[in-house]
Amino acid sequence: MAVPTETVYGLAADATNAEAISRIYKAKNRPADNPLICHFHSIEHILEWGITPNDTALKLLQSFTPGPLSMLLNLPSDSSLKNATCQREQIIVRIPSNNIFAALILGSEKPLAAPSANTSGRFSGTNAMMVQEDLGEMIDAIIDGGSSEHGLESTIIDCTEEGTVKILRPGPIGSDQIREVLGPEVKVTKVKTGNIIPGSKYRHYAPTTPLFWFNAEIPFDKSRNPVLILTMQDEKRWKGAAHYDVQVPVVMMGDENHPEAISHNLYQCLYHADSYQRPLAYISHYHASHNIGIGIALEERLTKAVEGKSN
Ligand code: TXA
Ligand code: MG
Repeated sequence: MAVPTETVYGLAADATNAEAISRIYKAKNRPADNPLICHFHSIEHILEWGITPNDTALKLLQSFTPGPLSMLLNLPSDSSLKNATCQREQIIVRIPSNNIFAALILGSEKPLAAPSANTSGRFSGTNAMMVQEDLGEMIDAIIDGGSSEHGLESTIIDCTEEGTVKILRPGPIGSDQIREVLGPEVKVTKVKTGNIIPGSKYRHYAPTTPLFWFNAEIPFDKSRNPVLILTMQDEKRWKGAAHYDVQVPVVMMGDENHPEAISHNLYQCLYHADSYQRPLAYISHYHASHNIGIGIALEERLTKAVEGKSN
């Protein structure tokens, strides 16, 4: 069943049920070695399942959850949650803030495994219509909770080592916010995820339409009927460019001074651009100018959408 979350829509199932888990892999066409994040309703719920966060992890759970922060923690070797972790003895936990999803977890009493609701490799669904179009034939139900607040997947951190936090996937919670809570004695680093997150070796966040960087200065081949996906600022530059053409459709992503608004829109813009069914699309670059979590996450997702896997 597809469910709304504050980050992106998820495809949820009882994390202890091997049969239900295998249906998620089938629906998404997800590589079998790519484990699933497990969602809990509270810190107590995580503890009930024999997962014991160290002091660093506990501080962060208390500060940022429920919310868009996921954490790699050690899992007891006999845990039935290994059904969701591809038998790994480390699990990624998240406590979502979305009311509908939180109520579902509370009602089911079990942790719910949920990857993003999209065919593997494609950008995540951030509203019910996107999920319906991508996965509708493969799943039983979609709970329509409107459009996802953040629009990008949660921040993932490795908290298995006391006193060290490794950022495995940038997201709405940034390193500065984490540092602020933990103080200078805790090391917060961004690491190459290759050996830790199996999913990082696969293509990510890509639309069906081949995607290239937009540059207002460089004329492109209009005879190929591209669609443009632009920030407000690039749309102005495009209108002022010598080769501007009113016939070229433009999907607007938002103001580059508001990365949280562009992030909220990004996957819906890729979906919209795909609906034009053009042979190619050009998209604005975004360079995070400050160390704000969502800006760094946005730059990373855009780069991967255009250039494929980057680590
Ligand atoms: O915002 C989110 O995190 C969304 C919502 C639905 O919660 N979920 C999400 O899941 O983005 P997914 O599967 O699309 O991305 C999770 C990443 C994958 O790259 C996967 O390989 C990695 O986390 N992962 C999950 N469990 C893991 C584990 N036990 N060990 C290492 N990596 C893990
Ligand atoms: Mg995903």
